[in-house]
Amino acid sequence: ALPKHIEILGQQYLTDLTTNITPAIISKIPLRLHTQPSHPLSTLRNLIESHYPDFAHLSSLSPLVTPFKNFDELSFPQDHPGRSVTDSYYINKDMMLRTHTSAHEVETFRRGETKWLLTADVYRRDEIDGSHYPVFHQVEGARIFNADASGMKEVEEDNERLSLHLARSNIIIEDVPHISPTNPVQPSHNPQFSEAVAKNLKLSLNSLMLEIFGAAAGANSEEPLRVRWIEAYFPFTSPSFEVEVMFQGKWLEILGCGVVRQATLDTAGVSNKIGWAFGLGLERIAMILYSIPDIRLFWSTDPRFLSQFEQGKITTFKPYSKYPSCFKDVSFWLPRNAALHENDFCDLVRDTAGDLVEDVKRIDEFTHPKTGKTSLCYRINYRSMDRSLSNEEINHVQNDVVTRLRDQFDVEIR
Ligand code: PHE
Repeated sequence: ALPKHIEILGQQYLTDLTTNITPAIISKIPLRLHTQPSHPLSTLRNLIESHYPDFAHLSSLSPLVTPFKNFDELSFPQDHPGRSVTDSYYINKDMMLRTHTSAHEVETFRRGETKWLLTADVYRRDEIDGSHYPVFHQVEGARIFNADASGMKEVEEDNERLSLHLARSNIIIEDVPHISPTNPVQPSHNPQFSEAVAKNLKLSLNSLMLEIFGAAAGANSEEPLRVRWIEAYFPFTSPSFEVEVMFQGKWLEILGCGVVRQATLDTAGVSNKIGWAFGLGLERIAMILYSIPDIRLFWSTDPRFLSQFEQGKITTFKPYSKYPSCFKDVSFWLPRNAALHENDFCDLVRDTAGDLVEDVKRIDEFTHPKTGKTSLCYRINYRSMDRSLSNEEINHVQNDVVTRLRDQFDVEIR
């Protein structure tokens, strides 16, 4: 049964029917990998910060936020799927773990920051595999200008400087219009100004991509960097874009961004400004830059992992021997008319097995034609990053998974 209170970062919180945060997740909150010296995520954060030397660099905001801050203040609709308990972690109905660094936009603008980067751990309920982990790290960046002639002049001067820099660089950019019918200027914005701001955003991020991927160890300097801009949608920006970078023959999604919705700036009390924001995930980029093959490795405390990295240096990770996988299946009948969300199953497994679980797949589902009951079968792949697991240990963990599954979801094991 759920305890009445849970403690997070030394504070007690009341639980309620919304509570779905697990001990496995709570244990990650104090770790703050993006601030651990010589950790790849910390070096990557520093690389990005050094590209924006005159921006404020923030990295110590608590991950506990109200749903209001995470969603409402950013104009998310009431029925947005991100709000659901299957997608996000709730401490109780009034407190959650931020799902993105954008949750801090309003407070940061309200503090009067006009150029800032904010790095933080963010939390999303998700499936389990080599590239998904329920905790990851994002960098939010934003810049706002006076919404008058002085601001316009600032944008244009910066655009000129960045254009010059990019013209001398080995980069190929596939662009989309700054503004289009499907990616519109906001009604309260002067179209020329919004266009200049979108252009500033693009120039700034193209140059950041050069900094990040141009510095990649062993990058072939003859080959141009290829960056592709795509129209996107976010409730808190318009126009909005996604950026992809070509890496080893594939387009990789790197970040989302756009011209900040005026409602956000109005809420922050800076309605006389106009500007842009972007949000990028650090793990995906770090996995590429350092050749790190599994996202769980970022959480490893094994010296064979940690000792390979030096603060400020991007080097190629040399994998140590992979230990064997061990597959275990579990099949069960759901109670009549009950459903089990895949994320609930994954969190149960993650909370029981920790980082010993490499991935979880549903391999079978059927509904009995006569009884109407549904049967599910999941295959769990156990593998440690650090050591060889004994059969006995895995059987033990698997037993715990099965027991908890039976107790928490009232299923009938087959
Ligand atoms: N917060 C968005 C995400 O996590 C990214 C984003 C940030 C988009 C800022 C636009 C502006 O997907």
